[in-house]
Amino acid sequence: MERPKFKCLDHLALKVRDLEKSLDFYVGLLGWRVTDGKNSSGFFNKPNRFVTCTDKHHTINIFEFRPKDGSCDPPVGHTHDNDQYGVMHIAFEVEDKEAFFAWEKYLRSKGVEFVYGPLLHSVNHPEGDNRSFGENRALYFTDPDGNVIEICCDMMRIAEDGDVDREWHAERIRRDGYDPKEVPVSRIHNYRYEDKEA
Ligand SMILES: [Fe+2]
Repeated sequence: MERPKFKCLDHLALKVRDLEKSLDFYVGLLGWRVTDGKNSSGFFNKPNRFVTCTDKHHTINIFEFRPKDGSCDPPVGHTHDNDQYGVMHIAFEVEDKEAFFAWEKYLRSKGVEFVYGPLLHSVNHPEGDNRSFGENRALYFTDPDGNVIEICCDMMRIAEDGDVDREWHAERIRRDGYDPKEVPVSRIHNYRYEDKEA
């Protein structure tokens, strides 16, 4: 029987210390909308809010989990460099390079510090960092709980045959002001699931 397919990452549910601080971040700073929520949710008996950056009901379902002692001190450090298992960062796509740089400018104007980037994850793109993969531009900063948020654009498209979508690549390189003939397509076959026993 053929395996059904996934479409894309849809949403996540996030546990936070202080709902108000998180709403200041996701709604106040990033401009998302609140669509729904409860002050004590039936699910975990915790206050929650559904927030969205698209036309869907929620991108993140934010639950407030206060520590038992009632404190809500921000955790030390952030998810990119602490040694906890789990999520390292959460990435949100913006329309294009122009929107990406507009976000960089806007966040800097609000005094937001970047954990990493802005950079372009590529070993071949003329603006690439020459050591990472995906071809996306990316910048990273933290929400009030130390979750690292990535803003990205132009993630590499993969064709049906499993290789880089060549048309996408040529068009993207042109859009960035370079000649596709002079920018080699990045390899993506360093590792394949089928090779696991090799
Ligand atoms: Fe990422």
